[in-house]
Amino acid sequence: PFKAPFRRPPVLKPRAVTRDARGFYTQHYTVNERLGATEIAPGIQTPVYGYNGIFPGPTIEVNRGVKTVVRVRNKLPNLHPDLGHSFATSTHLHGSASAPQYDGYANDITPPGFYKDYHYPNFQPARTLWYHDHGVHHTAENAYSGLAGMYIIRDAAERALLPQGEFDVPLVINDVMLGADGRLAYDDNDHSGLWGDIILVNGVPWPKMKVKRRVYRFRVLNCSIARSYRFRLSTGDPVTMVATDGGLMPVARRVDQWRHGGAERYEILIDFRRYKPGQRIELRNLSNDNNRDYSNTNRVMQFEVTDDAFSTVNNRIPTTLVPSAATSLKPSQAKRSRYLRVHRSNSEWKINDQSWHDVVASGYTSVVSSPEINEVEIWDIENTSGGWFHPVHIHLVDFQIIGRNGRPPFDYERGPKDVVYVGEGERVRLLMQFAHQRGKYMIHCHNLPHEDHDMMLQFSVGLKPG
Ligand code: C2O
Ligand code: CU
Repeated sequence: PFKAPFRRPPVLKPRAVTRDARGFYTQHYTVNERLGATEIAPGIQTPVYGYNGIFPGPTIEVNRGVKTVVRVRNKLPNLHPDLGHSFATSTHLHGSASAPQYDGYANDITPPGFYKDYHYPNFQPARTLWYHDHGVHHTAENAYSGLAGMYIIRDAAERALLPQGEFDVPLVINDVMLGADGRLAYDDNDHSGLWGDIILVNGVPWPKMKVKRRVYRFRVLNCSIARSYRFRLSTGDPVTMVATDGGLMPVARRVDQWRHGGAERYEILIDFRRYKPGQRIELRNLSNDNNRDYSNTNRVMQFEVTDDAFSTVNNRIPTTLVPSAATSLKPSQAKRSRYLRVHRSNSEWKINDQSWHDVVASGYTSVVSSPEINEVEIWDIENTSGGWFHPVHIHLVDFQIIGRNGRPPFDYERGPKDVVYVGEGERVRLLMQFAHQRGKYMIHCHNLPHEDHDMMLQFSVGLKPG
């Protein structure tokens, strides 16, 4: 660990920028899903099937209010060369209130040789999003093979408060396992999950990053298909949590450690002014229930403090941030509540005894809820699966976690969220408004082998007759 230099994913340049009659801008991008190679073990090439052939894929950055159209060309082989399944894909922009036809609906797949244009609205407050494959029954294999990348919406509120540019750093974290031939090994025989022994940050194993003595912002994404982390600094010093999945928290929170499930995003500030030049600090991973640990999975990356920074822009730890629509909701606004139980039966992962199989069998009519547009609901989600945790993701909405096992949520989850960690035996209460779009959207476990087998259902918004 801590030999390989830290790197950031490249930022993708738009192929064109257009302006419509009303003066609104659209940035147009092309991304090719294709074979590439990366070096994880020294001197050995590992094939990746990624966006533009790299892992993580290129980062897409946009200002709030500017639309994007992303043309995703499927240039993958017809069958996955190692795993054998059909390499048809569906691209989901996780964290975006996209129209349903552009949301990466699992069965809306694009086969090799074809492309799809995805239109993204980007009207939501600044946030860290990510795009990844969502192809039905093969999301786990496809994301693990490399189909994942970061996407950032920026706006004036976060620009005024938080570090920018060089001091605004994506950390795409996942775990992999390499076979003797250097290929990614995929070992998940009972659909429980995959637990790699190598931790990658932005595709680099346990990197070492040089940092200046100032405040940095890290956008931490758990891109693992199954593993959860409990992050903490090796010094034991707290970090300051400033944003969650859906952007800024109302108030910054100092936390010593945080539990981070698949697909969750937490933005943290670390103040390196308190350390001496030459000092080394590690980002560590404490053990969490229901994972499988290896000798170095407790280590993530290392920071080496250099000298003072030239730039002092936003070189401070803010306390008051900006409330979001989700965190301003009140439980009294809820029209109704729903109860969802996540569990396992007959070796399938289920929600309320149903799975995606039942949704397909119903001709895609079966839904767990069907609010009118702008209605507010409370969802209670309980994990009765015994021996497993489930990071549950609800498409389209930002929600507020209002309860965890009958108590208030953790400090660090008091921002707008779209994934909630439901640990073994836990029960969470969520409050959310179904705004912005009408249509059917998925809800599923973001342990991706669970999602694929077959812990996924859907809800509809604004589709009731009359
Ligand atoms: Cu990040 Cu439906 O997924
Ligand atoms: Cu799960």
